[in-house]
Amino acid sequence: MSDIRHVISTDSFGDPNVIARLFRLATEFRRGDWKKKTPQHLKGRILATVFYEPSTRTRFSFEAAMLKLGGQVITTESAGHFSSAIKGETLEDTIRIVGGYADAIVLRHPEIGAAARAAAVSPVPVINAGDGAGEHPTQALLDLYTIRQELGRLDNFTIAMAGDLRYGRTVHSLIRLLGNFKGIRVVLASPKGLGLPKAYQSFLQERNIQFRETNVFETALQSADVLYMTRVQKERMPARAHTRGSSFILNTTHLSFLQRHAVIMHPLPRAGEIDLLVDADPRAAYFRQAENGLYVRMALLKKIFE
Ligand code: NCD
Repeated sequence: MSDIRHVISTDSFGDPNVIARLFRLATEFRRGDWKKKTPQHLKGRILATVFYEPSTRTRFSFEAAMLKLGGQVITTESAGHFSSAIKGETLEDTIRIVGGYADAIVLRHPEIGAAARAAAVSPVPVINAGDGAGEHPTQALLDLYTIRQELGRLDNFTIAMAGDLRYGRTVHSLIRLLGNFKGIRVVLASPKGLGLPKAYQSFLQERNIQFRETNVFETALQSADVLYMTRVQKERMPARAHTRGSSFILNTTHLSFLQRHAVIMHPLPRAGEIDLLVDADPRAAYFRQAENGLYVRMALLKKIFE
C-alpha cells in the first residue's frame, strides 16, 4: 500500500486500494477482540491532538483510537487559549515544537489551509481534523465506510446532502471522496445562501457526477439512498447572517417519504436538524456512523505509523 504521510485533503484516499485496505482493517477492529486486550501496534508512539476549535467525536475518537492501539496521547484543550497561541505564537512555530515531542499531530483550526501550512513545517505527519470551512478528510473516510456498511456498496447510489453546504467542511470532503466512485448521483438541498461553493460544483462536473440543486427539502428525500444532514455552521457566518435560513429539519413525517432502505446520516453535532423521535427509526445511522469513526481512525493511525 502506498504510504500515507500527511492527511490534508481526501487526496490521501484517492487510491481505491488504500481505501479497501483501510476499511478491511477498520472492520477487523470493529469485530476484533481488542476490547478484551490492548493490541500493542502503536506502543511507544505519541499522538498530539491540537484543536483550536471545539470537538467531541473527532478528538475523543482519535485519542481513544491511539490508546486502544497501545499508544499515548498529549493534548491541549482549546489550543487557542491554552497553548502559546494566546501569547501570539504562530501556528507554524507551535507545530514545529509539538512535532518535536510527538510522532504525529491531529490538527483542527478555524482557517482554511491551516493544515497545509502546518504540514509544510511539521517534522511528523499532520492529520487535518477540520480547517475552517475547508475540509475534514477523516470524517469523509468514516462517512464512506458507513455508507458501505449500511448500504452495502460504494457505487450506483443517490446521496442527498441537506443543510449548510456552503460552510460544511464534511460535505466538501465527502463530495471530493465520492468523486472516486462510479454511478453516484448527488442532490444538493440547501437553504438560500448556503449552497455548495462553485469550486465543488465544478469538481462534480469534472468527475461527470450528476447533481441537481433544490431549496425544497422534501424534494431531496424521495430519491435518496443516503440522506446526509448537516447543521448550519453559525460560527463561520458574519453575525448578522445568524438568523438567516435555519437548516432543514427532518421529522417523523418525513420518514414516510424516504425509501425503506435509505440511510440517514449526520456528522453530528445536530443542532435541531433531526428530531429526536427519528432516532428510533432503523434507518437512522448517525450514532453507528460516529462509532465507526473510532475503527476507521484506528485503521488510519496504524497505517500512518507503519
Ligand atoms: C463536524 C465538523 O467539525 O466539521 N463535526 C465532526 O467532526 N463530526 C460537523 C459540524 O461541526 O457541524
